[in-house]
Amino acid sequence: MCGIIGYIGDRCASDILISGLSHLEYRGYDSSGVALMHGNEIDIYKAPGKLINLIEELKSKQDVCAKSHIGIGHIRWATHGLPTTTNAHPHTSNCNNLTLVHNGIIENYQELKEELIKVGSVFKSQTDTEVAAHLIAYEYEKTHDLLKAMQSAVKKIKGAFAFCAIHKSEPDKIVVAKRNAPLVIGVGNGENFIASDIPAMIEYTKKAIYLTDYQVGVVQKDSIQIFDKDDNLTANKIEYLPFEAVAISKLGYKHFMLKEIHEQSDVVRNVLGGRLLSPDKEVNLNEFKLNNDEINKISRVQIIACGTSLHAGMVGKYIIEKFTKIPVDVEPSSEYIYRDTIADKNTLVIGISQSGETADTITAIKQVKECGSHIAIITNRTDSTMARLADSLLPVDAGIEVSVAATKSYMAQLISLYLLSMKIMEVKDKNSAKNPEIMKLKQELLELPSKIEILLENTDNIQRIAKKYSNYKNFIFIARGINFPSALEGALKLKEISYINATGYCAGELKHGPIAMLDENMPVLAILNTGIVYDKVLSNCEEARARQAKLIGVTNYLAEKDERLFDDIIKIPSGSDLISPAINIVVLQLLAYYIAEYLGKDVDQPRNLAKSVTVE
Ligand code: G6P
Repeated sequence: MCGIIGYIGDRCASDILISGLSHLEYRGYDSSGVALMHGNEIDIYKAPGKLINLIEELKSKQDVCAKSHIGIGHIRWATHGLPTTTNAHPHTSNCNNLTLVHNGIIENYQELKEELIKVGSVFKSQTDTEVAAHLIAYEYEKTHDLLKAMQSAVKKIKGAFAFCAIHKSEPDKIVVAKRNAPLVIGVGNGENFIASDIPAMIEYTKKAIYLTDYQVGVVQKDSIQIFDKDDNLTANKIEYLPFEAVAISKLGYKHFMLKEIHEQSDVVRNVLGGRLLSPDKEVNLNEFKLNNDEINKISRVQIIACGTSLHAGMVGKYIIEKFTKIPVDVEPSSEYIYRDTIADKNTLVIGISQSGETADTITAIKQVKECGSHIAIITNRTDSTMARLADSLLPVDAGIEVSVAATKSYMAQLISLYLLSMKIMEVKDKNSAKNPEIMKLKQELLELPSKIEILLENTDNIQRIAKKYSNYKNFIFIARGINFPSALEGALKLKEISYINATGYCAGELKHGPIAMLDENMPVLAILNTGIVYDKVLSNCEEARARQAKLIGVTNYLAEKDERLFDDIIKIPSGSDLISPAINIVVLQLLAYYIAEYLGKDVDQPRNLAKSVTVE
């Protein structure tokens, strides 16, 4: 949520800042800005809307920009105040000497603002961030030292923040601070970088220092000093970044989303690699750190997640309960936080998150960690805050996901959940590895990459259907059992990127209300897989048909006599009910993609959304 970049070195700062911001656009994109320092001057450029507007703005200032080798930049996802130029970061103090960018939310900003107004601060924007600029400037007056000013200011601020600040009187440094919002310092040779996420600097360095909460740092061209909560200097812990610059390129695809959908077969291979070797072998999941005794004692499982990750968790509930008979609760993190936490040391808590930085999930995990439960984290970002909270860090290996709508990370989360559930089952029941149903699932998991590839080889029918239905304003997705979450996820994908009102329902619930909405203007997409719920979903399709709804079937089997029910049918490769969520979802992702693309929507950066939601 919002993106930060900073640079200090010999290169042209504006080039680095713009390139960094372009890789952070997935975090928010309603306005952007940079502050460039040259000599004792700071020039600020801001623009509302997407980054391209700032780039246009800077084109005519190339001569001035080229002079600057120190700067900070920001891309915003508005929380306080409209996405206008005035509210865009960087923000300055009244004297214009201090400039800063900020991610997060300052919770006591009203209180601080009132105090600062009393001592003469005049506010220009509606943001909480501007309070920090005035506060640090106020503290600066006492010591004339930017580090000390930042250290005293952050002690007065409540909430979440990552700050980067520069001051005209100290033109050789950027001062940074972090609490509950990610901030990384990229270590270069005679130059250093700062970013809220590593794609912003991976082109320039593979070495980084991850700031931890309450740290404040001074970043200069040739040095980095980091201070702890008590203002003591700490030793720098440099880590090597596990990502390649190529991961943030579209590789010829029109959108990152389409590229990421196509990467899913390889993602499945990566997650299974070395962990599932053949149908008759036990799962190797060394990342799961509970011993057999502890696994046998698990009395309940709680899954906590948001958005798409929550839907993966819902599929996980179905698989874990089926194989292990351990009761599983799945809950959105934002709800979990505000209830009594009922968990103990025999509770296995699974936190799922693509980014590993979702504020609600982090808070929920921290809360339940207090109960002594084992925390297993399924995240695509092993360098994230959530990964650092994990007792077991389960594999995802999806590579950087750029498109705001999650696709390949969902697939990877599903595979990780299949492995975990089979692992628990194999410990609880020594004979289970020879259970035919399990052997079949393992075989199907091993065959999954080629099934996904078959599906992706010919998308003509999906594209045709996408075009045909692109002008409908509402959609209903129905399914039962293990595919109910697929209906929710398919509907979420469609509404995220095309802004069509799409809702997923358990097919059996259709008649308890939603059926009132059905007529010829309401297409119903039904997921029908062979298995125990097939006939029931088919009956629900009949009910929809009787109300003249247009019907689209996504199915791995349909008797000829039943085909007449449907206006359109998307056939998927065969597979059991258990594996079907991992196949169906590819169709639903493609359908959403092609509808949005046909409508000319901004597929990778849909309005109002951000990929990493670091505010509660
Ligand atoms: C945002 C994204 C969604 C994502 C959700 C949870 O809303 O736009 O795509 O599913 O956050 O994110 P996480 O990183 O925790 O999976």
